Amino acid sequence: MANKFITTPIYYINDVPHLGHAYTSIAADVLARYERSDNNVFFLTGTDEHGAKIAQAAEKAGEEPKKFADNISAKFESLTKTLNISNDAFIRTTDSRHEKYVADFLQDLYDKKFIYKKQYEGLYCVGCEKYLTEKELVEGKCPDHDKVPEKQCEENWFFKLSEFSSKIKKLIEDDTIEIRPQSRKNEILGKIELGLEDVSISRKEVSWGVKIPWDESQTVYVWIDALLNYLSATEIFDKKDFWPPTIHLVGRDIMWFHAVIWPAILLAAGQDLPKKIFVQGYFTADGKKMSKTIGNVIDPVKLVEKYGADTVRYYVLRDFPFGEDGDVSIEKLEARLNGDLAGGLGNLVQRVLSLIKQNSLELSTSGVNLSAKGKDINKLTEDLKFQQALIEIWKLIADANQEIAKTEPWKLAKEGKKDEVKSFLQSQLSKVLEIADLVTPYLPETAEEIKKQAKSLDLKPIFDKV
Ligand code: MSP
Repeated sequence: MANKFITTPIYYINDVPHLGHAYTSIAADVLARYERSDNNVFFLTGTDEHGAKIAQAAEKAGEEPKKFADNISAKFESLTKTLNISNDAFIRTTDSRHEKYVADFLQDLYDKKFIYKKQYEGLYCVGCEKYLTEKELVEGKCPDHDKVPEKQCEENWFFKLSEFSSKIKKLIEDDTIEIRPQSRKNEILGKIELGLEDVSISRKEVSWGVKIPWDESQTVYVWIDALLNYLSATEIFDKKDFWPPTIHLVGRDIMWFHAVIWPAILLAAGQDLPKKIFVQGYFTADGKKMSKTIGNVIDPVKLVEKYGADTVRYYVLRDFPFGEDGDVSIEKLEARLNGDLAGGLGNLVQRVLSLIKQNSLELSTSGVNLSAKGKDINKLTEDLKFQQALIEIWKLIADANQEIAKTEPWKLAKEGKKDEVKSFLQSQLSKVLEIADLVTPYLPETAEEIKKQAKSLDLKPIFDKV
């Protein structure tokens, strides 16, 4: 049993969660549930609660930032339960233990002479909480938030990122830090090639944050504060043995912070580096990144209320490859529910179990050994090829459904061929149980329900069409 540390990004709490946030958590959960079968897993998620974006949102709501944060962070935490996310811990950056960790960590970098003061002028996007270059703008606006960035000129504390250029480049090139998919690795290497500039790690105008320990007139830049959650959590939750992270799951908007700035900070501090960073694409609605700022969001809580957690989990991972962008819609979700879930899996389970019941057969429901095909499918899950894994599982479902149609066990039963009926249904039942095992990380409730009904033969549909 190895230790595996799996993380999601910590979510901004400027507004309630949308389906884009749910997506990252679901993907990480599938991996965590899969890995738990053979390993010790520490699966971490949480909320990112400091900085200008949150301060502004709280002000708009007429609330104190901490109270505002408590309220929305609770919604993110409750969403993890709604979606059946099996996280082992939930970190909040306003936790005083995290705040202390950040202050101590920065003091250490300062003492090690990696931090200095400098005047800086740039275009700041509060939505992204980062400076943008002219090149990144589309018609003068941030393409992700459709807003003109603010010109900011401040004297800030800077981290000597430029000193780490060649080291980081090599670590990524030789996969010491694996950046996946490969296209993202190439993109990062291309950007590093253009040269790394030192980065500002403090803000003068933002008071909602951790104070710089040696200069209380400034607060720690929210991104540095946020990245350190991965480390502080191992202390707070007593999981130091799990360092370094096995995998950080991140959206493509935040890959630079994770693939370049984060490893450089860790190197400066003398810490071990994350082994893998997997970069996922965006959920888009009508072609635009789903975001509250754009106003095209889908509420995951409502979706789960209407369709159930497993349907939502299935839909978001089945429709397009994990890593790429994909346009999502309720219509497509309903089509998957009616077709793949109710029509495919639900139908198979119902047919096999009701045939067993009708023929009053007592069959073995004890654990099945995974077939070679099943092992291949698990490998796909392990490699985060979630869509591919689901496609392969649904091929098994289609094959099993077809076999039933071809064999017509109801006819065999009428002809009195009892042994044939029994052995055919035993083999179909084993297939159903193998399928239940394979879908367990994706559809945890459904898998349980299938196993329960197989034992009790107390049958009811596992998915309802809409
Ligand atoms: N707080 C930072 C992360 C700090 S991690 C040390 C942040 N938060 S976020 O709430 O804006 O985004 C969190 C994650 O959700 C990111 O991986 C982001 O890419 C993902 N998504 C946010 N909107 C998304 C979509 N529309 N589609 C897919 N993922 C999206 O960034």
